[in-house]
Amino acid sequence: MQRGMSGLPPYNAVAASRRRGGNLVRRRRGLRYFALACLAFIVYAQWRQVFSSEELKSPSQLSIERLRKDLQQCARLHSKPTDPIGLGRERNARYVDGHKPTLIQNATVWVGEPVEGTSAEDARAGEGYSWIDADVFIEYGLIRKVGKGISVATLPSDTLIWNAERRQLTSGIIDMHSHAGVDNVPSLWGNGDTNELSADITPYVRSIDGLDPNDYQIQVIKSGGVTTSLVLPGSGNNIGGEAYVIKHAVGKVDGRSETSIADMLADPDRSWRYIKMACGENPKRVYGKAGERGPFSRLGESWEFRHAFEQAAAQVRAQDDWCNAAETVGVEKMDTYLPQDLKWETLSAVLRGQVHVNTHCYTIPDLEAFVDHSNEFKFSVRAFHHAHQTFLVPEVLKRAWGSSTPASALFADNMWYKAEAYIGSEYAGKILYENGLTPIYVSDNPVINAQHVVFEAAKAFGYGLPYHAALAAVTTAPAERLGLGQRLGKIKPGFDADIVVWDSDPLSVGATPVQVWIDGTAQFEDPVELKKPFLPPVDAPSQRPATAEEPVIANDLIFTGVSKSFLSTDLPQDPSEDQSLAVVIAGGKITCIGACEAELHAASKPDTTIVALQNGYITKPFIAFGSGLGLNAIDAEDVTDNGGSPDVFSRAVDGLALDTKKLHYAHKYGVTKAISAPAYRGLGTHQGTSVGFRTSSKHALEEGAVFLDDAAVHYTLTVDSKEGSKSISNAIGTLRHKLLEAINTNVTAADPFTEAAFLAKVVAGELPLVITVHSADTIAALLKVKRTVDSAIASARGSSGNSGSGGSEGISLAIIGGAESHLVADELAAADVGVVLAPFQSYRTTWGQRRGLVGAPLQNGTAVDRLLAAGVRRVAVGLEEDWLVHDLGLLAGIAYRNGGGAIGEGEALDLVGQNILEILGLAKAEDEEGGEFVVFDGSPLEVGARVRAVGSGFGKVAFFE
Ligand SMILES: *[C@@H]1O[C@H](CO)[C@@H](O)[C@H](O)[C@H]1NC(C)=O
Ligand SMILES: *[C@@H]1O[C@H](CO)[C@@H](O)[C@H](O)[C@H]1NC(C)=O
Ligand SMILES: *[C@@H]1O[C@H](CO)[C@@H](O)[C@H](O)[C@H]1NC(C)=O
Repeated sequence: MQRGMSGLPPYNAVAASRRRGGNLVRRRRGLRYFALACLAFIVYAQWRQVFSSEELKSPSQLSIERLRKDLQQCARLHSKPTDPIGLGRERNARYVDGHKPTLIQNATVWVGEPVEGTSAEDARAGEGYSWIDADVFIEYGLIRKVGKGISVATLPSDTLIWNAERRQLTSGIIDMHSHAGVDNVPSLWGNGDTNELSADITPYVRSIDGLDPNDYQIQVIKSGGVTTSLVLPGSGNNIGGEAYVIKHAVGKVDGRSETSIADMLADPDRSWRYIKMACGENPKRVYGKAGERGPFSRLGESWEFRHAFEQAAAQVRAQDDWCNAAETVGVEKMDTYLPQDLKWETLSAVLRGQVHVNTHCYTIPDLEAFVDHSNEFKFSVRAFHHAHQTFLVPEVLKRAWGSSTPASALFADNMWYKAEAYIGSEYAGKILYENGLTPIYVSDNPVINAQHVVFEAAKAFGYGLPYHAALAAVTTAPAERLGLGQRLGKIKPGFDADIVVWDSDPLSVGATPVQVWIDGTAQFEDPVELKKPFLPPVDAPSQRPATAEEPVIANDLIFTGVSKSFLSTDLPQDPSEDQSLAVVIAGGKITCIGACEAELHAASKPDTTIVALQNGYITKPFIAFGSGLGLNAIDAEDVTDNGGSPDVFSRAVDGLALDTKKLHYAHKYGVTKAISAPAYRGLGTHQGTSVGFRTSSKHALEEGAVFLDDAAVHYTLTVDSKEGSKSISNAIGTLRHKLLEAINTNVTAADPFTEAAFLAKVVAGELPLVITVHSADTIAALLKVKRTVDSAIASARGSSGNSGSGGSEGISLAIIGGAESHLVADELAAADVGVVLAPFQSYRTTWGQRRGLVGAPLQNGTAVDRLLAAGVRRVAVGLEEDWLVHDLGLLAGIAYRNGGGAIGEGEALDLVGQNILEILGLAKAEDEEGGEFVVFDGSPLEVGARVRAVGSGFGKVAFFE
C-alpha cells in the first residue's frame, strides 16, 4: 500500500507551484499564507537548529531536503512495474492471522492451464485442458498443493477438512468490469458515486474514494462465485479516473480484520494502477452543449483525449529533463523543484507504463481513433470494454501500441440498447478467439447482475467459444490483463487461495457455488445448497456450429433424432417404443411425430429435406411478454421508439412497428409471439393496452400478424409512477377510482377504444389487468384495491342481477416485475393473481426491489420457487430488456435446474409460453393446427441448443440450415 501511495506527488506540489498575478483577494490571502509560512519556517528553523547544525539551502535558495526527495521521486517515476509474483511467497499478504489451513478433498479441479509440455498452439486449440480428480490444500491464503490423495497425516494438525464430493472446483471468478460499491444497489442518489461529471477529463479521480464496503451487492456478487472485481469509474467521461481491483471479502464476517476499502484491495502492494476511459455516446451525451462546451461529437472526444495526453506528455518530458539534469549536475544545483502537477500525475503514469488502461469503446470509429491515440502517445491498452464491434476489426486492434493486443471485454448477448450497441454478435467471442484475440466476459454491474457473470461465459460457450477459452474468459484471461496472472485465475501452488466449488458445471445453466474461499477463508458460514443431481462436467464439443444468419423457408421437412417433444398431445402422434422420434412437417405443418415410418419412406418428394439431429427437442414457441418488441428498435433512440408518457393511455396496436432487427432475432431464437404494451415512462414500464403479434410479420396487416388487438390493460406502479401521479398513494388511489368508475361505465359508447371503455372490460372480467410492480408493499395495496373493486362488482351485479360473462369472480389481475412478490406469495395465490417475473432472477436495483431473493448460496430459492410453492397458478417469465429474446429457454432452464425437482422440463417451458397465454385468458388459444413449433438441436433449457426450425403458423416454416 505504501509504495503506491508514496508514488503520488505530495498534494502540496500543486499548492507550491508558483503563481504570478491573481486578484487582490488572492494576493491578500497569499500574504497571510506567506506570514503563516514565515512563522512556520521560524519554528522549523529553530527546531532544525536544535537537532542539526547544517543549513540546507541550494545556491538558488531551494530546500535541499525537498530537492533530494524530488530526486528520489525520479526513481519512482522511472520504475517499471512487473506482475507481482505468485509462487515463492511464504504467505499471501492478504492472509489474516489465525485462519486455519484447509484441505479440500475429492474435488474435480479445473487448473486453468494445459498439462505441462502442451505447445502454445495446441493450448490455444484447447488441447491439454481437462477436469482432474484432485485435493487442494490451502494455507496462509495460498494454494500449497494440488494433487490426488493428499495425506492428512502430512498436514498441520489444525487443518480443516472439506469434502467436495467430486463436485467441480475452479479458481474464483474475476469480473473485469464492475461498478459494485460505487454504483450501489438498490440505487440511491446518496450512494451513487460512479462518475465525476464535473468535467470530461478527470484522470485524477479514483473509484476507491467512493467505494462503499457496505454495498450488499458485493456479497451477492460473491455468491455467484466472483471473488475479484475491477471497480471502474463510470463511462460518462472520456477519462473517468483510476480503478481498483478488489476482492469480495469485507469485514469480520468475511474473515477480514477490519471493514476497510484498503483491506479489500486484491494486491495490497498496488503493483499496478488502473484507469478507466470511455469513447462514444456517453461523454458526448453528458457534456456536449452546442456553442458552449464539448465534446459534442466523437470528433471532439478525440480532441479531448489528445489534449489530455499532450498535457501529460509535457509533464513527463519536463520531469525527465529535470531528473536527467539533476543527475548530471547534482541535485543541489537545481534551481527549480521537480515539476509535478497532481492533475496530470495519473495520466503521466499511464505514459510511463505504470497504469493499465481499460477503455469503453463500442464502434469501429471509437476503436480506431483510440488505437490512433495509443500510437500517437505510446501507451498500451489492456482491454477495450463494451467492445461490441471488435469482432469486426481484429486487425485494427492488433495495430494498437505495445506488445500485446487489447482484449475485448464483452457481454454474451446483451445488445441493441443504444445505437453503438446495435451492431453486435453473440458469436463475437468465438470470432475474436478464432482471430487470435482474447474475449473476456464482464458484468458492468449494475448493468448486468455480476452474480451471474459466469453465465455470460456459459452463453459464450454455447455460442461457440471453446470451453477452455470460455472459462478462461472469466478467470485466467482477466487475471493476466489485470497484471495478476501469477496470483489469480488458476488452481496451482503459489496462487491466491480464491476458490469456488460449484453444484454443477460452471458453464451450465444455473451453476451455483456451494462454497467460496477468498485468500483461503471460506466465505459462507451456512451456505444453502440446491438439490441437484450429480452430473459429470460438460462434455464439450470442440466446434459448435453457429445458427445460420438467415433462415430459408422450407415447408416440407423431416427431422430425425428428436429426443423429446413438448407439443400438446392432440398433434398427430405415431407412438414408437424407440426413444428417438421423427418429426414430419408437410406444407408448413406437423403431420407426424413418432416413428413415422410411412412418411420417412415416402420422403421421396423432391423438396423434402431430411435433417438428422443429435439430440432434437421440439417445443411450442416462446412468447415475449412485457418487452419493447414491436414498439422499439433501439432502446435509447427515441426516433426508433413508439414513445410513451405517464399522461397518455394508448393502444400498442396503434404503434406497432415491425420488421426490426430485434424481431428477426426473436423469431430466430424461437420467440414467435410477443405481447407488448406502450411505455409508461421508459422500457420496462407500461401503460395502455398491449398487443399480441407475431414476431415474423412484415407489417400489421399480414395474415396472423396481430393475433390479439388488445391483450390486456396495463399500468405501472413502480417508483416511476411518482412521475405522473406524484405519489404512490395517489397512483394507487387513481387506479382504484378508475376501476370503481368503470363498473358503471356505459360500454356501448361511440368510441370503444378509450381508457374507460377498456376498464369497463376489465371490470366485466373480459380483459386482464396487468400491473408493473415490484414492491411487496405496493402489491399488498394493489391486492386491497382488487378486493374493493371485486366486492363493488359483486354488489353491482347483485343489484342488477347480472352475473357477467365469466367474470363473476372479479377482475383478472396479473403483475409483471414482481421482485418482492415472494413476500406476498400466499396472498397472490389466494387472489389467483398471475405473476410475470421480470427480471426472472430478481435484481435489487431499485428500492422497491430491495427484498428480492438472490438465491443460493445466500438464500433458499428465488421468487419463482416461492411462488410455485405457494400455489400461484400462473407464473411466467417476462423480459425487462429486449436482448433477452436470446435467452428465454435458458431462463426456463434455470427454473428447472435450480428448482430442486419441483418442476419438470415441460412446466419450465410453460413459464415462457403457455403460462403467459393463461394469464391473458388465452389458455385455449388454438395452435394453428400444428403450425407453431420450434425444433432445437440440444435442449433449449441448456446452454448451446441450436434452433433448426421455427414454425410460426400460417404455413411458414423458417429453416436454419
Ligand atoms: C468423493 O465423493 C464421492 C461423491 O460424493 C463419494 O462417493 C466418495 O466416497 C468420495 N471419496 C472420498 C475419498 O471422500
Ligand atoms: C348507454 O348508452 C346507450 C346508448 O347510447 C343508452 O341508451 C343507455 O341509456 C346508456 N346507459 C347508461 C347506463 O348510461
Ligand atoms: C429449501 O426450500 C425447500 C422448499 O421449501 C425445502 O424443501 C428445503 O428443505 C429448503 N432447504 C434448506 C437448505 O433450507
